[in-house]
Amino acid sequence: MQVKPHPSFSQIYVVALDDGTERLATRNLAPGRTVYGEKLVRFEGVEYRLWDPFRSKLAAAILKGVKAVPIKPDHQVLYLGAASGTTASHISDIVGEKGHVYCVEFAARALRELINNVCPYRPNMTPILEDARFPERYALFIRGKVDDIYCDIAQPEQAKILADNADIHLKSGGWIMLAVKAQSIDVTKEPSEVYKRELKILETRGFTIEDIVHLEPFDKAHAMIVAKYRN
Ligand SMILES: C[S@@+](CC[C@H](N)C(=O)[O-])C[C@H]1O[C@@H](n2cnc3c(N)ncnc32)[C@H](O)[C@@H]1O
Repeated sequence: MQVKPHPSFSQIYVVALDDGTERLATRNLAPGRTVYGEKLVRFEGVEYRLWDPFRSKLAAAILKGVKAVPIKPDHQVLYLGAASGTTASHISDIVGEKGHVYCVEFAARALRELINNVCPYRPNMTPILEDARFPERYALFIRGKVDDIYCDIAQPEQAKILADNADIHLKSGGWIMLAVKAQSIDVTKEPSEVYKRELKILETRGFTIEDIVHLEPFDKAHAMIVAKYRN
């Protein structure tokens, strides 16, 4: 087995397994602990968590060749729709001890799992039981403005919700990643109505679209939009 840094993205790794396959991974900030049953591997004294693209749209976007992953070491990240922490925990690995992930989730059961199984071992994650439609409600919990917002809330009006959060919580020049429903196979040719509407909302609310990748075969229903907030 071999582990190499991803050629483009900091703190993301490519693991070449002995069977010849390659997998994405992040360096485990909580050694010995898994979050969603992912495999742990050790290489040269460091533990990594294999990152499942069928469970995490961010991993799927990376494997589909997304041009930019704005989430970087030391960043403050607002995560909307954190659920029990599958993707949020990998973001916690990427931003590291000096970064932070604010995890907004309104389903109490999912958040309870995050609080019990993940946050105690990851001091850089803050669970927030709140509705992302009301970003002013959690302003108290967020220190300053964040560098990035990651949004995966599977709701109509996602772009509006994300933009409302950006207006309050995102730095000027900050970045967003939005997992949006895009049923058609080739989003560049036949985007669904929902998808077109979401893009338009982002543009009118001050975002410049940097990249869009469809996530199939890992996730047939979604695309990932990466965009920059007004400078
Ligand atoms: C597709 S799941 C997220 C999966 C997660 N992003 C991951 O990759 O690990 C969507 C989550 O968004 C949450 N959600 C939906 N609407 C929300 C809202 N308005 N505020 C907060 N959470 C919301 C749901 O409860 C659900 O847990």
